[in-house]
Amino acid sequence: SQTKIAVVVGSLRRDSFNKTLAAALAKLAPADVVLTPVEIGDLPLYDQDDDGNQADSVKRLKAEITAAQGVIFVTPEYNRSVPGVLKNAIDHASRPYGQSAWAGKPAGVIGVSVGAIGTAVAQQHLRTILAYLDMPTLGQPEAFIQMKDGLFDADGSIGAASRDFVKGWLDRYLAFVKTHAG
Ligand code: FNR
Repeated sequence: SQTKIAVVVGSLRRDSFNKTLAAALAKLAPADVVLTPVEIGDLPLYDQDDDGNQADSVKRLKAEITAAQGVIFVTPEYNRSVPGVLKNAIDHASRPYGQSAWAGKPAGVIGVSVGAIGTAVAQQHLRTILAYLDMPTLGQPEAFIQMKDGLFDADGSIGAASRDFVKGWLDRYLAFVKTHAG
């Protein structure tokens, strides 16, 4: 049977390196695994007054997370944390209280940055959030990726120098998802 993994990208930028990384991960997945990007750019700003009347975009996000066997977060680092758009999406799908879409979904955390530490600090903040949301999260290998020439091929695939590393990370994550299945 097919494994569905939702992919949440923490950048809305048209030419986002993290969007490119997310698409490249999807291409590395085995035939029985589908990585599907989840839209978060159409969500309103989170407002607790709307918990009883969530927007259609929020309901759609929650349904997509619920239908997935796991969630990969592909995110840049903004000011040493996660981008607000990502936190906004996480907050939306965690509500109303007791009806979080995230609980129990095995998570993977990866990201690319132009900075030398490759989103490491944002990932640590994100891990704190995911722990609270009761998402078991792959510990090793960590994947802190720096944007540089050759990271991506012209077609957006992972370049030769990093392909084995990124594929290895994805394989370990998918094995982790299997241990949490059922
Ligand atoms: C950044 N950038 C950045 N990089 C980093 O390594 N650590 C950081 O704390 C920050 N902070 C930061 C804040 C804001 C508001 C922006 C817009 C950018 C740079 C960041 O790595 C770069 O813009 C990436 O290209 C963002 O990822 P996407 O959009 O290409 O996926």
